[in-house]
Amino acid sequence: MSPENQVANVSHARSARGRLWQMLPVDWGRVQEVTNEPVPGHIKRWWFALGGTPAYLFFIQLTTGILLSFYYVPSPDHAYESVAAITSRVSFGWFIRSVHKWAANLMIITVILHMCRVYFSCAFRHPRQANWLVGCCLLMTTLVMGFTGYSLVYEQLSYWGITVATELTATAPFIGDALATFMKGGEKIGPNTLTRMYNLHVGILPVTMVLLIGLHVAMLRIHGVSELSLDDPRRKGEAGESPRLASSMLGVRLIALIAAIAAAGALYMAVLNPAPVKVIAYALTIESSRIFWLVGASVLMTASVLLFLGHMYGLMIWLFVGILSLGKLLFDLATGEAANSALWIAGAVVLAITAVYGVIRHGHFIEGKGEDKPFNFFPDHIVTELMIGTLLLFLLTLLSLVFPAELHEKANPLVTPEHIKPEWYFFFQFRLLKLTGLNTAVFLTGGLVVLLVAWPWVDAILERIAPKKDLGVYVGIVAFLTFLVFTVWEAMV
Ligand code: HEM
Repeated sequence: MSPENQVANVSHARSARGRLWQMLPVDWGRVQEVTNEPVPGHIKRWWFALGGTPAYLFFIQLTTGILLSFYYVPSPDHAYESVAAITSRVSFGWFIRSVHKWAANLMIITVILHMCRVYFSCAFRHPRQANWLVGCCLLMTTLVMGFTGYSLVYEQLSYWGITVATELTATAPFIGDALATFMKGGEKIGPNTLTRMYNLHVGILPVTMVLLIGLHVAMLRIHGVSELSLDDPRRKGEAGESPRLASSMLGVRLIALIAAIAAAGALYMAVLNPAPVKVIAYALTIESSRIFWLVGASVLMTASVLLFLGHMYGLMIWLFVGILSLGKLLFDLATGEAANSALWIAGAVVLAITAVYGVIRHGHFIEGKGEDKPFNFFPDHIVTELMIGTLLLFLLTLLSLVFPAELHEKANPLVTPEHIKPEWYFFFQFRLLKLTGLNTAVFLTGGLVVLLVAWPWVDAILERIAPKKDLGVYVGIVAFLTFLVFTVWEAMV
């Protein structure tokens, strides 16, 4: 044991709390050593540390999923009715179901964004190839979790979604038929199919996910997180091991630009069709939505403490609340319903004060930002992750209140719906299917999966053919844009 550990253990032993800790068979000095390990300064950038977000959302999935499983009945005769009961009769059932659904969607979005960060910062290069493979398995597991969860609702689109998925699987060479039969639990879709989807969704996949996340983080600890260099080493004449070149930053900026355009487009559509805006405003004023106020109040309290401590996230949350209030105030003024706007006026005042405070103390908040000094995992990094977690909880609550999970028509094997649509994260494959036909779509999807898995080695070959040209970055930009265009195209049909 190191002298520092001995000192830590002795000082623990003297206090009453230390005596209590001693009753547990844990080397607290070692725990302190591990949790206080310095984290490289560049992890302060939220987009570089996005990997923690899907892990947090997975935890929310587990918690809400366990609650839902108390009421869900996995049989074709009762599945739909049990979901209907959860949605309309069980206390807060609609809320738990909505949070579960939104957390699943956010998890998929954040996994894709995290993958983009890893890709464009070339963090998959030697020696991290194996962790990229684990990441690919995590991506597949997340997508299959989404698919199996969707099928449990047993509404028309769940049933016909499984039908299309198993037909697609059956066309895959060699193992297609066997895999489709395994998914269906026989020759046809029936009670066995639902049991299998349920088993996968609540048992096999969550356990696989926990094991994969454990392996992913263990490998991360072995290699350490990759370096980040925003400068172009070519200009400096250096040759980095895992260089982050200027052209890659071009990719990141391009994606940020596209995201900003998409957000502006969504805002524009909301203005053209004010219905969703009205719904948001309505949800914000429902007095019965106690959870909203409860979560809101706790977020604000946490934000105030953080603001007091000079933490950036406190400022961000208060600004967010202020902007919401200002929006509601403007909405009330526009619709002539200024009667109960006192709260929102207070919010707008908060926005103004926070903005002024933010400007005055600007230097304080960005202190040390450019220096990228290492910082402690605990409490610094954990507090940041918790803050992001609280913000996400706030967002999930808001989304669940404004857009609660719906329930459509019950599955009917005899009636094919007019429009079959999978969840948005399979829109890309669905568009490919419509454009190229069944066999080609399956072949292309398989090819893309193989390319994704083998990317660290393909990239190495490209680097050898055209050193420091960063061809992979351009491939990534084209791939991401194609995914985005196909997804939006399918969403609009
Ligand atoms: C449930 C899904 C996932 C979780 C919870 C997760 C979690 C994490 C975490 C916490 C990190 C540390 C750095 C950071 O916070 O960004 C990380 C790094 C990494 N992840 Fe993931 N990840 C997931 C999916 C993926 C996927 C889909 C890929 C790629 C196909 C991937 C590849 C990597 C690689 C290569 C690193 C090392 C990056 C570096 O050293 O800079 N991960 N992951």
